[in-house]
Amino acid sequence: MTLTPELDPFKLAKALSGKHLIGGAFMPAALGKTFAVDNPATCEEIATAAFGTREDVDAAVASAKAAQKEWARQSARARGKLVAECGRVLANHVEELGRLVALETGKALRTESRVEAGVLADMFVFFGGLGSELKGETIPFNPDMLTVTVREPVGVVACIIPWNVPLLLMAMKAAAALVAGNSVVVKSAEEAPLTVLRVAEIMNTVLPPGLFNMLSGFGPECGAPLVEHPDVKKVSFTGSVETGRIVYKAAAEKLIPVTLELGGKSPMIVCADADMDQAVAGALAGMRFTRQGQSCTASSRLFVHESIHDEFVAKVKAKVDAMVMGDPLDEKTDIGTIVSDGQLDRVRSYIKLGEETKGATKHVCSAMPADPKLKKGRFVQPVIFTGMKNSDRLCQEEIFGPVCAVIKWSDYEEVIAQANDSEYGLAASIWTRDIKVAMDATRRLEAGFVQVNQNLVVQPTLSYGGVKTSGIGKEASLESMLEHFTHKKTIIFNMK
Ligand code: NAI
Ligand code: MG
Repeated sequence: MTLTPELDPFKLAKALSGKHLIGGAFMPAALGKTFAVDNPATCEEIATAAFGTREDVDAAVASAKAAQKEWARQSARARGKLVAECGRVLANHVEELGRLVALETGKALRTESRVEAGVLADMFVFFGGLGSELKGETIPFNPDMLTVTVREPVGVVACIIPWNVPLLLMAMKAAAALVAGNSVVVKSAEEAPLTVLRVAEIMNTVLPPGLFNMLSGFGPECGAPLVEHPDVKKVSFTGSVETGRIVYKAAAEKLIPVTLELGGKSPMIVCADADMDQAVAGALAGMRFTRQGQSCTASSRLFVHESIHDEFVAKVKAKVDAMVMGDPLDEKTDIGTIVSDGQLDRVRSYIKLGEETKGATKHVCSAMPADPKLKKGRFVQPVIFTGMKNSDRLCQEEIFGPVCAVIKWSDYEEVIAQANDSEYGLAASIWTRDIKVAMDATRRLEAGFVQVNQNLVVQPTLSYGGVKTSGIGKEASLESMLEHFTHKKTIIFNMK
């Protein structure tokens, strides 16, 4: 069966209302409850989602468990081919998925949502090609024994995802898990349940039923029972540190492996000799202004050398001022909205905190959308705070919004120490033309993803994941599939 792309996201949202996808079929929540999904640009309801509970978790895990046995028996390449086929089919739906994710998350279609839908498809194609890389070893243990290792799937994998990049984050987990021979139950974020459900529907036209299941619901009612379910053998989680700790504890009780991709407060260090225009563009990309800063890798601590500080800040501000805030579905829009009321409150409270911070100066950028239809939308003008100290709360806590803290620096040793003075360690970047400085900084910065003179986002093939409280484990790469979605079995043949 082939699905035809539905380019009207409002129509598609309605059609996807009130459903989980379990065992290859749409079904309502076991208890019949739903919750509302709104359009952050207007705060109007666009759909409902199934309110998942333990009963739905039980059904999804049972179907995943049943499907996994046969899937694991297939050759790794055959599994990879089907996963790559999912990617190819999803590539035909990029426009559809981009529009729907823009509608439900408020991320601008042109700058963010369409791009994300493209990477989603690419992630499945990438992992699909890695089936035959699930290799073992032969070990020269004893000449009278043939000793080999094989990679085996872990079983049913639970993937718990957030709302900021739901397609990409889901794909990094699910594609790797499936190719490695596992089956998957995804719990979507309550703020963004629709587009990933559509992805599940599309994937189920390719995959055997039960292999890939999608539940919607809230953390305590749906996420927690999924982690606790005795037949779930691995959890891959992306979200807040606070929830990550809860998930880790529940998994520890069951003694199952966990991958955690948590928050960040990533430093970007701009040296006096940096290419000014390149670094300014990098600050815009790194801060994810087009995504309202709703990114775990956002370079939200911007260390700028004192000799170029004023010019640099003025240039960044001018560029953000030139960005258009508006309807996420409008092609002219650069910056959409904040996802939810909860996040809006959080962002506003941090802006207030910045205003109250001693020595800080607030620079408000861009302009609120003029369209009266968007009056109730969750728009926030991006803010740059200068005059910050690294010890300020605004520089220590993850905001997950369009708030950038600029810290002036003069001493290299001090700036490296300050960059590392953070509970987080997800990403970092250094901007300089001096190769020795770049080499030194990349070695010393405490982060899982360090870049010189650029601020790329997650890329299929590059291991991605943090140190310190930013998480445990890697994603998006071959090693992530081998280390986190298989276990290694050692087999010894006595040949005497
Ligand atoms: P969250 O961590 O509460 O939610 C992430 C996912 O975990 C959602 O699917 C949620 O339903 C689920 N969840 C919540 N409680 C759970 C539980 N007890 N057991 C299992 N699953 C559970 O994040 P939230 O509330 O969306 O955002 C709060 C803050 O977290 C943000 O402001 C941001 O700072 C950070 N965050 C970081 C993300 C990242 O990419 N690292 C993504 C989203 C949020
Ligand atoms: Mg939460």
